[in-house]
Amino acid sequence: MFEQLKTLPQDPILGLMKTFREDPRSDKVDLGVGVYRDEAGETPIMAAVQAAQQRLLETETTKAYIGPAGAEGFNRLMGQLVLGAEHPALKEQRVNVVQTPGGCGALRMAAEFLKLCKPDATVWVSTPTWANHIPLLGGAGLTIREYPYLDPSSLSVNFDAMVDCLEQAEAGDVVLLHGCCHNPSGADLDADQWTAITDLIERKGLLPFIDIAYQGLGEGLDKDADGVRRLAERLPEVIIASSCSKNFGLYRERTGALMLISATAQQGLAATSQLLSAIRSHYSMPPSHGAAVVEMILDTPELMQQWQGELDAMCSRILELRAALSQALAPAGDFSFIERQRGMFSFLGVSPEQVKILREEFGIYMLDSSRINIAGMSTTTLPRVAEAIADVVGR
Ligand code: LMR
Repeated sequence: MFEQLKTLPQDPILGLMKTFREDPRSDKVDLGVGVYRDEAGETPIMAAVQAAQQRLLETETTKAYIGPAGAEGFNRLMGQLVLGAEHPALKEQRVNVVQTPGGCGALRMAAEFLKLCKPDATVWVSTPTWANHIPLLGGAGLTIREYPYLDPSSLSVNFDAMVDCLEQAEAGDVVLLHGCCHNPSGADLDADQWTAITDLIERKGLLPFIDIAYQGLGEGLDKDADGVRRLAERLPEVIIASSCSKNFGLYRERTGALMLISATAQQGLAATSQLLSAIRSHYSMPPSHGAAVVEMILDTPELMQQWQGELDAMCSRILELRAALSQALAPAGDFSFIERQRGMFSFLGVSPEQVKILREEFGIYMLDSSRINIAGMSTTTLPRVAEAIADVVGR
């Protein structure tokens, strides 16, 4: 039965991780996969996470099943983290949250849920978007269409083109937006653009679907969620996929949340029952550990404070690296967009051939699209990275 199967190419992001690991050079630099690294190039467990794990170890009493929705406390606190505790949709009990296996689990279950709502649903995704969005959503059988998002010459948001294209969307179509820290470009909508896109979605009867996987790593927890929160104040139905991989550093624990905002509390109950049934038939229940850690942190004032301090320090470090890289590259060209962008990623705007030279000659790894993980640099490696880029673009 297996003999007719062909070997698939490696995943562009995960495959690069493997190539990097196998590179024997000691001065290699990994700007590929989106994992936060500190000044020493490590991805340590956050101190608040360590402390929460310790407390869990001492207090956890059972490993019995938690059910398809996951932990009630985690779900409630994640709703508050993303939307803000005073959000009207929470007060009106129109928000239902389920714990998912990472942001990917949330995205895929959102897609399965959309299939139940509307079997021929079309989802509009930005060009470019995170490479795994298309398999995750398309794999559930949704039709994917693309809207232009990034102007390739300025590497900033081409908002007019985005809006012009989304004017073609039909009522009931779904629009996927990155809540903050656009992956892969780092180019985010500003406050006025969020308002304008909310107007368009409302006027055309579209359904907004927000992927917020980097809350706290752009400009701060509240600032990064501002566009999503304001959109959710105005629209009756919103789907939000959130991840704890980056802001809690829980990558391998697969911890995320899927939120459905419904027009009424009653509709929310029906929608959630459908979602839970879809979850049951996919993976039955989410893994517990990461969500238990997050719940412990969000529910314990001193851990919350510690976590926020650590997250703010990560965020500031990324902003400093952005400024330093764009300055170091100034003699080679205008890379000021790197300083204006937010989150872990930016495109360098160099060609795949130049990316190859950077990898092969200099041991500097980035995606073929020239997406770099800013947090993969340190103040020690940054000058060498900048020198190599300047060398390659100057040839
Ligand atoms: C990335 O974009 O590098 C991360 O989200 C990791 C992944 O799973 O692709």
